[in-house]
Amino acid sequence: MFPNYIFLFAVTVLLVFTRSCYTLNEQDFDDDNAVKIPLWERIFRQFQQQKKFSSGLGEVSMNVNQTCTLCHLMVDTLIFEMKNEMTLTQLIFEIEYFCSILNIEKENVCEGVITLNADILTYIVKNQTKIDGTKICALILQSIGCEKGNNYEWEIEIPPGNTVKKPKPDGKTKFNILHLTDLHYDPLYTENKTKDCGEPLCCQNDQKKANNASDACGYWSSPENADVPLHTIEAMLNQTQSHEFEYVYFTGDMVSHRVWDTSVESNKKIITEILDQFVKYYKKPVYPVLGNHEAHPVNVFSPDEINGSLSTQWLYDMILEKWSWLPKDEVKDTILKGGYYTVLAQKGLRIVVLNNNVCSTENWWLIYDDRDPYGQLKWLAEVLHKAENNEEIVHILAHIPTKSCLKVWAREYRKIIERFSNTVAAQFYGHTHRDQIHIYYNNKSEAMNVGWNGGSLMPDEANPNYKLYTIDAKVFDVLDAETWTFNLTLANEMKEIKWKKLYSFKEAYGMDGLLPANLDELVRNMASNDTFIELYNNFYYRDSDYDHTCDEACKMRLLCEMVTTEQGKDEVCEELKEIRQNLYT
Ligand SMILES: *[C@@H]1O[C@H](CO)[C@@H](O)[C@H](O)[C@H]1NC(C)=O
Ligand SMILES: *[C@@H]1O[C@H](CO)[C@@H](O)[C@H](O)[C@H]1NC(C)=O
Ligand SMILES: *[C@@H]1O[C@H](CO)[C@@H](O)[C@H](O)[C@H]1NC(C)=O
Ligand SMILES: *[C@@H]1O[C@H](CO)[C@@H](O)[C@H](O)[C@H]1NC(C)=O
Ligand SMILES: *[C@@H]1O[C@H](CO)[C@@H](O)[C@H](O)[C@H]1NC(C)=O
Ligand SMILES: *[C@@H]1O[C@H](CO)[C@@H](O)[C@H](O)[C@H]1NC(C)=O
Ligand SMILES: *[C@@H]1O[C@H](CO)[C@@H](O)[C@H](O)[C@H]1NC(C)=O
Ligand SMILES: *[C@@H]1O[C@H](CO)[C@@H](O)[C@H](O)[C@H]1NC(C)=O
Ligand SMILES: [Zn+2]
Ligand SMILES: [Zn+2]
Repeated sequence: MFPNYIFLFAVTVLLVFTRSCYTLNEQDFDDDNAVKIPLWERIFRQFQQQKKFSSGLGEVSMNVNQTCTLCHLMVDTLIFEMKNEMTLTQLIFEIEYFCSILNIEKENVCEGVITLNADILTYIVKNQTKIDGTKICALILQSIGCEKGNNYEWEIEIPPGNTVKKPKPDGKTKFNILHLTDLHYDPLYTENKTKDCGEPLCCQNDQKKANNASDACGYWSSPENADVPLHTIEAMLNQTQSHEFEYVYFTGDMVSHRVWDTSVESNKKIITEILDQFVKYYKKPVYPVLGNHEAHPVNVFSPDEINGSLSTQWLYDMILEKWSWLPKDEVKDTILKGGYYTVLAQKGLRIVVLNNNVCSTENWWLIYDDRDPYGQLKWLAEVLHKAENNEEIVHILAHIPTKSCLKVWAREYRKIIERFSNTVAAQFYGHTHRDQIHIYYNNKSEAMNVGWNGGSLMPDEANPNYKLYTIDAKVFDVLDAETWTFNLTLANEMKEIKWKKLYSFKEAYGMDGLLPANLDELVRNMASNDTFIELYNNFYYRDSDYDHTCDEACKMRLLCEMVTTEQGKDEVCEELKEIRQNLYT
C-alpha cells in the first residue's frame, strides 16, 4: 500500500520547493533538551535542522514561516482526506510514512504512537467542524511561533480587587515538606540490556543485551533513555524517612516513557504499585498530582463530555479510590470531573492541586475545545478568593510548568496568580526533570511569585534527586530548598546508593531570603556572574557525570527559562540578554 496520491503530491511539491531555501533560523531552536519533544513536533522540526533523510530528496531545511506553511498544508490535506472517508488504516499509514521518511523514530515506535492517537484524532476531525491546519499548527508548533489570528482566545472572570498585604513571617517556627517528582517507574527495566537501543526508552526486557560493561544498563538506572526499576523507587522512599517532614508533595509522572506501548491496564498497574508504596512508607499525608504520563495515550486528557473508550474518566475514577487518604467528601467532585482538588492541610495552609496537563500543547483535545478545560481556572480563582477571605495561605501543586501550556491558559493563570500573589506563598512543579525555579512576573516586570521544580528520580541525563523545603510555620513561605541526590555511576558500580545533600539553595547562593524579589535579584546576578550560572547549571543536572557543559547559548537558555512562565512573554528574558551582552562590550 502507498500513501494517498494527493497527500504524497503535496508533500513532494513542498519538499522540492523548499530545497533551495537553506535559511536556518536559529531563533528558539536550542530548546530545552529537558522536555522530550513529541513526535509530531519533531516531524516538523526535522526540516529545520538540516539533517539528511533517506527519502532521496537530499538535505532540506526551512525557516519558521516555511515550516508553518508546510504544517498547514499537511494538516489541511489530512483533514480533507479524513472528512472524505479515508480509512483509519490509511490515516495511520500516511502519518507513519512521514515518521519514517524523516527518520523520526523506529517503525514500531512510530506505529505505536500513531495507532494509539488515531481514534482520538478521527473523533476530533469528525466532530469539530471549526478546525483546520492553521488552528492545529498554532497548537502543536506554538513553541516556534506558528500562530495566525486568534485561534485560541478566551478570558475567565477574576474577582476584582488587589491581593492582600503580605503577612509578616514568624521567623522562628518552621517545618519541612518533602517534594518528590517524576518517578517514571518502568516494570520492564532490565539490568545489562544495551543503553544504546535506538528507541526512546532503553533497558527494556524485549531489547538487545549489552556487548560489554560500558554499554550496559545499570542496576539502579542509566543516565540516558532509561526509567527506573522498583528497587530504586523503594530506595528513595526509604531514604526520605531519615528526614522529618509534615507533608509529601508528589508532582506527578509515575508511568514510564514506553509511550508507544501504553494501555489503560498497564498504566493502572503502575499507578497502583506506586501509590501502594506511598502508603507503605509514609505515615504523613501525601498530596499527589497527576502527570502527563498517567494518561493513555500519554499527554491526552479528554474534555468531561467525552464518554467511552476515548475518555480519561477511568483515571479520575481510579485515583479517587487510590488517593484514599484524602478527605473524600471534599475532593470527590473535582477529582471525578478532572483530577484536581483542594485540601486544608492545617489551620491557615490550603493546598491546591491542579491537573494542568490539560493545558499542555501536547494535549490534542485542545483542538476540539480549548476553553478553560474542566472549568479548572475558574475554580482556581474561586478557591483563591475564598482562601483570601478566610486569611488562608495557599501552596499550588501542578505538573507542567506553564511555559509549556497553551498561551491563553498560561496568561489567564498568570493573571490569577497576580491577583492573589500574596495569598499564594509558593508553587511546586515537576515534568522538566530539572532542578530549577520558575519566577512569575506581573505586567510591570516585578517578580510576584515563584514555582519550585522538584527535578526527578528518573535520571534523564542528571542524577536522581528529591527535595526538602523548610517552610515558615506561620506564613508558609519557602525559607530554604535542599536537593538530595547520589552519584549514579558510583551507585551502579557499587550496587549501593550513597545519598548526599547536594546543596542548600540559601547557602549556595548566599541568599537573605527566597521571596520572589530575592530570586529576581539572584537571576540578575547570575546573568552578570558566570560563577553563579555555572553553579545553577551543575545543580540543574545534580552534579551528574553525564556531560553537561554549558556554553553561552545554554546559559542564556537557563536564564530565560527561569523568568519565562508564558510562551512569548519575554520582557525579563530580554532584560537578561541585555545584561549579558553588556558583559562582553
Ligand atoms: C464523532 O465522530 C465519530 C467518528 O469517530 C462518530 O462515530 C460519532 O458519531 C461522532 N459523534 C458525534 C456526536 O457527532
Ligand atoms: C549484569 O552484569 C553484571 C556484571 O557482569 C553482573 O554482576 C550482574 O549479575 C548482571 N545482572 C543481571 C541481572 O544479569
Ligand atoms: C561496547 O559496545 C558498544 C556497543 O556495541 C560499542 O560501541 C563500544 O565501542 C564497546 N566498548 C568497548 C570498550 O568495547
Ligand atoms: C533504609 O534506610 C535506612 C536509613 O534510614 C538504612 O539504614 C537502610 O539500610 C535502608 N534500607 C534499604 C533497604 O535501603
Ligand atoms: C456523555 O454522557 C453524558 C452523561 O451520560 C451525556 O450528557 C453526554 O451528552 C455524553 N457525551 C457524548 C459526547 O456523547
Ligand atoms: C497586562 O498587559 C496586557 C497587555 O498589555 C493587558 O492585556 C492585561 O490586561 C494586563 N494584565 C493585567 C493583570 O493588568
Ligand atoms: C561519580 O562516581 C564516579 C565513579 O566512582 C567517579 O568517576 C565520578 O568522578 C563521580 N562523580 C562526581 C561528580 O563526583
Ligand atoms: C561572582 O560570584 C562569586 C560568588 O559569590 C564571587 O566570588 C565573585 O567575586 C563574583 N564575580 C564577579 C565578577 O562579581
Ligand atoms: Zn516526567
Ligand atoms: Zn511529565
